[in-house]
Amino acid sequence: MTPMRLLGIETSCDDTATAIVRDGATVLANVSTNQDAFHAKFGGIVPELASRQHLVLLTAAVDDALGRAELRLSELDGIAVTVGPGLVGSLAIGVASAKALAFASGLPLFGVNHLHGHLFAAYLDLAVPAEPCYPFLALLVSGGHSQLVHVDSPEAMTVVGRTRDDAAGEAYDKTARLLGLPFPGGPELDRLAASGDPKAIRFPRHRAEGDELDLSFSGLKTSVRYFLEKPVGKAARREDVAASFQAAVVDVLIDRLDRAATRAPYAEAILSGGVAANSALRVAFEAWGRSRGVPTRIPHLRYCTDNAAMIAAAADRRGVAGRVDPLTVSANPNLPFAPQRSFAGASER
Ligand code: KG4
Ligand code: ZN
Repeated sequence: MTPMRLLGIETSCDDTATAIVRDGATVLANVSTNQDAFHAKFGGIVPELASRQHLVLLTAAVDDALGRAELRLSELDGIAVTVGPGLVGSLAIGVASAKALAFASGLPLFGVNHLHGHLFAAYLDLAVPAEPCYPFLALLVSGGHSQLVHVDSPEAMTVVGRTRDDAAGEAYDKTARLLGLPFPGGPELDRLAASGDPKAIRFPRHRAEGDELDLSFSGLKTSVRYFLEKPVGKAARREDVAASFQAAVVDVLIDRLDRAATRAPYAEAILSGGVAANSALRVAFEAWGRSRGVPTRIPHLRYCTDNAAMIAAAADRRGVAGRVDPLTVSANPNLPFAPQRSFAGASER
């Protein structure tokens, strides 16, 4: 089979990212212009400014990826772009650019769901290339989403559990802010927690009701806030608060993962999304896999947070199935992940 080389474009939030990926596995170029420093002074991402930055940065980011891969656009086999979910203005810049490139080059266009990209990030740049083993279970934890996903194929997947309120990354970012850490708070809190005692404070864990798999983090975040307002909290070491918060997040995620894993004969489990970069979660996830005898995969750090290589990886698996999008495809900030139904598939919800 001739190799398939795709250009990936990802602009769903604040990273202006491009990549060239061969066969959904080998990354020939991976470019990401992080806007963190630009937004840090506002304490969070300002959507309007993010889209303007994409406009400024994207053309050069495409040229940069092609230059690093030593390829011309005409030598590629397709263009993959994130069409949703995400910030509407940011998505629109990426989609318009991808359509223009596809029109000018005649290459096929693949519109990709950002979250499907996170699912296939775990198969990028492996020492021994591997295709996903189906069905697999994914714990997808990012700044905007926290979900457990049952994946039967690149086209057939079901969300079996999701957060009822904050996403895990959002909880990290908000708690980091309470601790006075700079934006983006997740990685900063992770670093602070490394020198703290995870057992110092017993923060509440969201408990599953019945056989449900949903998650919740807003109660945890609020209890950290109340704790910090009390004299005992004011006197506590910030490292211990960070480590104790992190232990609670990890406990809840691993509990729901464990429950989900008992419901199907999973060939493997993957951890993905920005929070998959979290050191405590990575360790706990792998330990869980060993204890349950489920093979686990976690993407390389550079492919945990938003990147364009994962978008090309997801499109590649769709391209193999022969699905191409028309040039009329448009950005959808609320793009649904997949049909959401109960695990048995008996009822829609
Ligand atoms: O996947 P991602 O890059 O963007 C979204 O699609 O949301 O995830 C970003 C999120 C942010 O909330 C960030 O704080 C969190 O991932 N994050 C982390 C770590 N690195 C990134 N959270 C905890 N520990 C980390 N090391
Ligand atoms: Zn993401």
